[in-house]
Amino acid sequence: MVDRFSISRREQTVYRAKQPSIHAVALAAAMMALVTSPGSRAEEPTTPMVLGAVMKQLGRDMQAVTGAISREDWSRVEDLAPKLVRRDEPPFTEKMRILARLGTDLGKFRSFDTQVHDAANSMGDAAMRGDGLAVINAFARVQQACLGCHQGFRKSFMEHFQTKR
Ligand code: HEC
Repeated sequence: MVDRFSISRREQTVYRAKQPSIHAVALAAAMMALVTSPGSRAEEPTTPMVLGAVMKQLGRDMQAVTGAISREDWSRVEDLAPKLVRRDEPPFTEKMRILARLGTDLGKFRSFDTQVHDAANSMGDAAMRGDGLAVINAFARVQQACLGCHQGFRKSFMEHFQTKR
């Protein structure tokens, strides 16, 4: 197709540079809607969030790691470590609600997640080397990160999102 409206690469670059990214726009719009619409709280669904499901799975995976450690089954620990890192992404709307909820605490929340991530990776590496003590040390760091985030956020999340179980 002959494209009469084709724009040069240079123009595209200039155009892009002037445009905030689609994500930034969508995010800002969603945040505005959340912050400004009166009664938005009442409209929040009470169904369990994806976050809750992700957490339940994390809990199960951690239990499996404990079991594998007590059997000194390092290859099992190695298999389980990536599960603590992998995340099912919540759907867009849920993510927006979480972001809106977090506000300026986003950095803190993220850093706990990164700590889980890093500690789980070193646990996997240690398991690969068959270094039991290092596995246990890394496992403790994973748990500290879980605990840190829960102490900081769990209660307020559950109250805010009225998570039912
Ligand atoms: C970045 C923050 C954060 C980190 C890190 C985190 N959690 Fe959570 N977790 C939460 C929040 C917030 C809730 C409460 C939300 C909810 O239950 O809907 C929660 C709830 C839970 C629950 C209760 C779920 C339920 O439905 O009863 C379990 C189990 C859990 N987390 C396990 C873990 C484990 C294990 C780790 C570490 C490997 C971990 N979490 C790391 C934020 C975090």
